[in-house]
Formats: sequence, structure tokens, C-alpha cells
Amino acid sequence: MTSRRVNAVSPSATLRISEAAKQLKREGKPVVDMSVGEPDFPTPSFIIEAAYKAMKEGKVFYTPSRGIPELLEAISWKLKEENDVDFSPENIIVTPGAKYAIFEAIMSLIDEGDEIILLDPSWVTYEACVLMAGGKVVWVPHTKNFQDAPLEDYITPKTKMVILNSPSNPLGVVYPVSFLKKLRDLAIDHDLFVMSDEIYEKIIFDGEHKSIASMDGMLERTIIINGLSKTYSMTGWRIGYAAAREGVIKAMARMQSHSVSHPTSFVQYAAVEAIKGDQSFIGEMVAEFKARRDILMKGLDNLGISYAPPQGAFYIFMEVGESSMDFCERFLKEKYVATTPGAAFGKRYNTWMRVSYATSRGNIREMLERLEDFIR
Ligand SMILES: Cc1ncc(COP(=O)(O)O)c(C=O)c1O
Repeated sequence: MTSRRVNAVSPSATLRISEAAKQLKREGKPVVDMSVGEPDFPTPSFIIEAAYKAMKEGKVFYTPSRGIPELLEAISWKLKEENDVDFSPENIIVTPGAKYAIFEAIMSLIDEGDEIILLDPSWVTYEACVLMAGGKVVWVPHTKNFQDAPLEDYITPKTKMVILNSPSNPLGVVYPVSFLKKLRDLAIDHDLFVMSDEIYEKIIFDGEHKSIASMDGMLERTIIINGLSKTYSMTGWRIGYAAAREGVIKAMARMQSHSVSHPTSFVQYAAVEAIKGDQSFIGEMVAEFKARRDILMKGLDNLGISYAPPQGAFYIFMEVGESSMDFCERFLKEKYVATTPGAAFGKRYNTWMRVSYATSRGNIREMLERLEDFIR
């Protein structure tokens, strides 16, 4: 009954765990939820005020499909100021969340049989979008403590795109400039697109973010994906964007105009204020994430559990030494801690799990105690 396109993707493996966690919560169990992918801070009040003001001023009607000019200008300014990337408003599309920008970009560029390189492990949605577009995912393993990968061995004449996510979900890795340079050289030599998902660019503890689009020869072949969900704690507002050469953006705009039309009008006005307003709360949020990461790393070191050392985002990817699907289910059932099995993120990580530290220090300490109990 259902289409091949939708049959190509299975329901999220993580859904079962999160449903089970919700059920346990309803039963009044002391659930510690470390499976969430969103900051646990409120949206800054000046952004809420801006949305309210826009609504009161009657900015509640259709907008241009690619987004309001003020927001396209603000994003263009931000990319130049912060990322040294020279994309004008014509090179930008605003979307309902970064996730939809990823979906639109892949649907606009990928044909049946095209190969798309994903670093193993990668965030779950990339593979699903590629499969829905009829493309083929080629998983490339990491080497050297998750700082490098032998991309060159996996490129074929059918390779169309490499997807990069730095800082990465689920690893928290910030890829070094040496890796970005290697990817740039390969992209140019083999005429590839790079989709660079930079949604965690501001949540960095060690190292610095560099957009691959700012490197020589990459403006034409990079699709930058970004959004306000993580930086401004705005996951439910659904606002993200893509920036790329005009042909790509025009194709995405065609899809958008016939699907979701545009992101919510007053959310776009609030997004202008978010990007242009006082950014100081981001530093406070990042300092808190860093303190939590440090508690977690110390706790895992004490337990002798190995993990990919996170330099950014708010996840830690750790080895549990057995099928993590079973481990995560039992950890939830017996200790009421919700985590995400590693198998959801790629091909080689069935014995790893992802823990999100977008939760209080108290919850993190509690989780470490329960983990110690559980594995002993
Ligand atoms: C790597 C990555 N990209 C994109 C997104 C989607 O963000 P948005 O809420 O803007 O759709 C997420 C959310 O979890 C993510 O982890």
C-alpha cells in the first residue's frame, strides 16, 4: 500500500526506547532521560518578545517562500561575520528546522543510484533522507580517535556528496582543519558536493569551528545547513536554513513552495532578533554544557568505560561491550535511564550508545551511579 520511498526507511530504532521511557514516566518511575537531542534551557525572553511583537503587529500571513528579506539579510550577515562565507540573500533559504533543509537539499540533488558518503557514525536523519531520495549510503569508518577517515578509498564515479557534521552528533567531535582540507581537495578533484551541517557550531569546548565553505574553491560546492534549534534553544519553533550556490537554492525553493510554503511568519521575525540580538547567553549555556561534559568524562573514566572524547555538541558516545540495543533496553527497564543505542547511527557501532547531557548535573551524577550499579 505504501510507497517504495517511504518503505525504504524503517521507523526510528530509538523510538522504541523513548516510547518506553515515556510509559515508565507515566507510571511514576524515576526516569533519567539522557536520550534527548535538545538543550534544556528556556528560549531567551527577548526572542519570545520578538515573536509576540510580530504577532501583535499582524505579521501572521504568508511570507515569501524562501523567507522574509530581513531574515535572509541577517543570515547573510551572520555567515560573513562569523564564518567568513560570502553568501548573499539569494544564496539562502529559510526552512522549518534544519532537518527540512537537509531533506530538501538531498531531494533536490540526489538521483536514484547516486552514492553519498556518510562518516560512521552519523546522525540518523542523513541516511533516511538519502534512502528516501533513492540514493545509496556509503559508510566510511573513522580512524585516529575519530579525527580522520579514509574518504579517498570510498569515492567512486557515482559519488555525488559527502555529508559533514562538525561538531558531530553523536560523537561530539570537532574535525580538525587537516581533515577539512583533505575533504576539500577530494571534493574539488572528484567534483563532489559537501553538505556541511553546522548546527552545533557554537557549542564547542575545545577547538574552533571552521566552515568548509570558507576554504578556497568550496563556496560553489558546499551546502551549509544550520538553524536556531540548538544555539538559541528553539527546537520547537522549527526554524533553520541552508546556504549554497543559487542553482541549489532555487531547486530547494521550488520544493518548498509546493510543500510547506515557508516557516511560520512570526518565528521568522523572532529569528532576526535572535541572530542580531545579545548573544551572551550562548556563552553561559556552553559553559554549563562543558561542566556537565567534564562530570561525565570523569565518571566514565572512573568506571573504565571508553568513549569518543567530545569537543562540542552535548552528546557522549561510549562503548558498552555488548549489543547496545539490549543494553539500552535493560538499562531503562532496570535502572530507568533512557539512552540511545549506537546501531541507530551507523554500521559499526552496535556495541556503543549515545548519552545526551542536555540534562541537569544532578541527573548526570544520578545516571553515573545507576550505570555503576548496572554494570557491576
Ligand atoms: C546534527 C543535527 N542536524 C540537524 C538537526 C535538526 O535540527 P532542527 O531542529 O533545526 O531540525 C539535529 C537535531 O537533532 C542534529 O542533531
